[in-house]
Amino acid sequence: MTALGPDADPLDALRKLRGDHGSVFTKGRGEIYVSDPALAKEILANNEGLFRDHSDFFRIRTGMFGPRSTQVEIGRAARVLLRRYSQDHADELPARVAGLAPGSDWPDAGNRLVYEHFRPALIGDAPPAALRETVDQVVERAVLAGARDRYSRLARHRFRARVRRVLCAEIALRRARPTGEPADLLDVVAHAATGRTRDADLAEVFLSCLFAVAGSVGFLLGWSLYLVGTAAPEQAHPAWVVREALRLWPVAWQFGRTPSREHQLAALTAKPADEVVVCSYLVHRDPAHWSEPDEFRPDRWASGAGQEAFIPFGWGPHACTGAGVATQVTETLVGLITSAYRLGVAATSSRPQVSAALAPPRFHLRLDPVSLAEGR
Ligand code: HEM
Repeated sequence: MTALGPDADPLDALRKLRGDHGSVFTKGRGEIYVSDPALAKEILANNEGLFRDHSDFFRIRTGMFGPRSTQVEIGRAARVLLRRYSQDHADELPARVAGLAPGSDWPDAGNRLVYEHFRPALIGDAPPAALRETVDQVVERAVLAGARDRYSRLARHRFRARVRRVLCAEIALRRARPTGEPADLLDVVAHAATGRTRDADLAEVFLSCLFAVAGSVGFLLGWSLYLVGTAAPEQAHPAWVVREALRLWPVAWQFGRTPSREHQLAALTAKPADEVVVCSYLVHRDPAHWSEPDEFRPDRWASGAGQEAFIPFGWGPHACTGAGVATQVTETLVGLITSAYRLGVAATSSRPQVSAALAPPRFHLRLDPVSLAEGR
């Protein structure tokens, strides 16, 4: 995803630019933002090859993890594994919800809940202690919203080196074993390696999986509960709540693409040195496609109208392979929580925590069991 400028509130700044300049505009030198839904999809579909092939998920320190065939294989195998895991372990979700404290701090509580549920799918049922401890710490120190800022550059640098060491050692062990059915996402990544693939690159792709599962899904759960708790709509269908949360506050809120050659983008010229940014946050609030675009109205999904301006999981060849599992598990959790509890949300700010991902504001969630709240 694209680095943020120095704006105090980057989302407001983008809205203002769109208001002033229309749905395709420049922000800073060489950054072209796109908020028109049809054009956004055209760019992401890239049918005419006007953009270099790109996937945020597979971006690593040295460039893009590849070849593309390996990316596709990892995406496919990850989807199969997570689907199976979700089905086999769905019956554990009620106990996880019952285990939530009557008062908890979010979005961290959501990230931890999702991570703990999916930990065996990430690193196996009985991971070596060093692996488990390291991956647990990655969640605490890098996945939770704002966690990175609590550590100095030096501490982050040392921690990254340790994480790389532990993951590379485990990946090397797994690559040396005969490959069978992958038992977890670390296997998915290790098995996809060809002879020349570096363990360190595989470790980075595994970390993308960890961020997607514990980070993105956890934030989506956080947004859904925050919105239900603050807007208090009539009991809404969990699937509509989750979709509406993804519309208003898409966790993946902008995707960068590099033009492969100079071409026209609406009234602007996109050059290979530019970055074209498809902004799902703006696409999802396009007033031509959504009535009252800034309002949380889960019931709008009853008719399905406006969906052509909905790209929370991207679009085209690089669209998210985990979308089905991510929405399904979030819907289940939202359904379990909102049917068992009345939600009380207390937040000091209503603004999202904006970084590469769009995380909800920090909020305290009070859960009052429905039977008590109703006096039954
Ligand atoms: C709420 C949760 C999630 C959101 C919002 C999300 C969002 C996205 C978006 C927007 C893209 C496209 C990025 C681009 O075009 O540059 C993407 C790609 C991808 N996502 Fe997700 N994701 C989520 C969860 C997951 C999960 C749980 C997995 C499983 C490991 C996953 C695996 C992937 C993969 C493999 C790709 C790359 C596809 C490709 O380039 O072929 N995602 N995701």
